[in-house]
Amino acid sequence: MNQRYRKTIIAGNWKMNKTPSAAKQLIEELKPLISKAKWCDVVLCVPFVDIPTAVKAAKGFKVAIGAQNMHFEKSGAYTGEISAEMLKELGVKFVIIGHSERRQHFAETDLTVNRKIHAALEAGLRPILCVGESLEQRELGVTMEHIRLQIKIALHNVDAANVKRVVIAYEPIWAIGTGRTATADQADEVCGAIRDCIRETYGARIARAVTIQYGGSMNAGNAAELLSKPNVDGGLIGGASLKAGDFATIVNAANQ
Ligand code: PGA
Repeated sequence: MNQRYRKTIIAGNWKMNKTPSAAKQLIEELKPLISKAKWCDVVLCVPFVDIPTAVKAAKGFKVAIGAQNMHFEKSGAYTGEISAEMLKELGVKFVIIGHSERRQHFAETDLTVNRKIHAALEAGLRPILCVGESLEQRELGVTMEHIRLQIKIALHNVDAANVKRVVIAYEPIWAIGTGRTATADQADEVCGAIRDCIRETYGARIARAVTIQYGGSMNAGNAAELLSKPNVDGGLIGGASLKAGDFATIVNAANQ
C-alpha cells in the first residue's frame, strides 16, 4: 500500500453465494467488526438479486456495494442481461469487469471487457478490471506479456481522467479459489509492472494514483503481508469475504 498517493480498496467478491436474507445477515455481522477501519474503502460485490437488500443494509455505513458483471449496451434485446444504468439506479458504485471466471465460462474477451469498461465509466460506475495469467502462461514466462495485452485492450480509448476511476485487480488464475496464493513478492512484482504499463500510456502522476489490488486466495492469514507491499493497494477477496470475521481481519489489516 502507499496511502499517500492512492486509496487502498478491500473488495469482497461473493460470486454466486448468499441469498438476499443471508446477505443482510452477513452485512449486519460485518458492521461492528470494521467500524474502526478509516484508511481504506470497503466494497462488497454481491449477486444482482442481493443488491437492493445490501444497499439498504449498508446505508449510513462506510461500505459501498458493487456488482460482479454488467452488459456493455445501455438497453435492448439481451435476454438475461443487466445494464450499467440499472445498477446505478439501485445505488451500485463499483462493478467487477472481466473476472477470469467470466472470461473462462462466459466467453468474455478483452474486446467485450473494453466495451464494458467504457459503459461502466459512462454510467458513473467504477470498474474493477480483473487481469491475470494462467499457470501455463506463468510457467512459459509470458505473464507480463499477457497482462500488458489485457490491460492495453481493456483500457483502449479510456482517457486520463477516467483511468483514475478504474481499479485494477491482479488475479493470477492459478491462485483463485485454490488456496495457492501468490507470494507477496510475486504479487508486488506484477502489480508494479501493471503500474509501469499505466505509466507508459498515462504518465507517472496518474500511474501513481491508480489503485491496483491483488486477488487469489487472499485470506485473514496472508493479507497483512500482501498489503505491506508498496504496489499492492488492496485486495479482491472471494472465499474469505463470505465470513464476516475473516473479511474484517483483512479490512483491518489494511488499516495498520
Ligand atoms: P478467492 O477468489 O479469494 O476465493 O481465491 C478471488 C476472486 O476470484 O476474486
